[in-house]
Amino acid sequence: MSKIRDFFYEELPLVNASLYRELAELNPLVREVAEHVLMAGGKRLRPMLTILSARCLGYAGDDVYPLACSLELLHSATLIHDDILDNADLRRGRQTAHLIFGLHRTVLAGDALLALANKIVARYDIPSMNYCVAEAIMNTAAGEVEEIAQLRRPKTDRNVYLEIVRLKTADLIRAACCCGAMLAGADRQMLEQAAGFGLNVGMAFQLVDDALDYDADSGLLGKPLGGDLREGKMTLPLILYLKSVDDGKRQELLEKITADELRDEEMKEIILNIQSMGLHLEVREEAGNYLDLAAQALRLFPERKEKMLLEEIIEVVRSRKF
Ligand code: IPE
Ligand code: IPE
Ligand code: MG
Ligand code: MG
Repeated sequence: MSKIRDFFYEELPLVNASLYRELAELNPLVREVAEHVLMAGGKRLRPMLTILSARCLGYAGDDVYPLACSLELLHSATLIHDDILDNADLRRGRQTAHLIFGLHRTVLAGDALLALANKIVARYDIPSMNYCVAEAIMNTAAGEVEEIAQLRRPKTDRNVYLEIVRLKTADLIRAACCCGAMLAGADRQMLEQAAGFGLNVGMAFQLVDDALDYDADSGLLGKPLGGDLREGKMTLPLILYLKSVDDGKRQELLEKITADELRDEEMKEIILNIQSMGLHLEVREEAGNYLDLAAQALRLFPERKEKMLLEEIIEVVRSRKF
């Protein structure tokens, strides 16, 4: 088994136990919603990054776990809200929360989780950590709302897309690494490296996710294939595809995307074309550039076993299939 898998395997029960403890504080009506999402699994990437960043920078205390949990709580809150915004019906292999518990309870459960996460972070009495987390929440919301503003907008180009990715996904992953580093008392230079690592891993993570949406076995992913196209999301595989077809075809497709008039067969054809042209692989290559930057940011990290594990995470993101 790889070292990183061993690490996740060992740490997972501690992260989950801490999650359960913290959830106990919630009102039962929202706790049920939160547990539905949190106990359905999930890769726990963000809390693991917090733990690894803290440990790699020399922090040995057990109180890293609630902090790590707070990042998973934040992440789960954004997923709960995201599934409402995206009309998604499957998350982590389960029916989405709003379809089971209704919109009202689900929106409020997301809010309660955000608040709970902030409360946990405040316990550490490190103001920069609160600032970092608050900024990440703000950026996630900004990214989500920008993405919605760009739905079915044929003018979306790669720069607009990349900025949305930074805001909606990469910044929370940056925060996960920075919080760990701050707990370890990292100096400014090290903090910048941790931020650079997290941000670039986060960019790559979302790019790969957007490639997977055109490629993956949806059984593995726990969410359906082609969802982004159906929702009119102008992600990089689609942006590249639209660039590759001739002007007439592009105009026709753009009009249909804008008017939400793509038929099922047309969507299937686009997905198949993207696959056969290897555009999902091109997106993965672009993700690889961010991962190279992440590896560079790690260079100044102390030579501890956790550094090797962070390097392994880079490779996991590079080749992930779910
Ligand atoms: C899903 O994140 C949302 C994105 C940022 C792509 P993950 O893929 O980390 O979701 P879980 O936590 O494993 O379910
Ligand atoms: C991920 O966005 C959710 C957030 C970053 C808040 P997506 O909508 O692209 O991800 P999935 O496909 O629902 O996991
Ligand atoms: Mg979504
Ligand atoms: Mg979304």
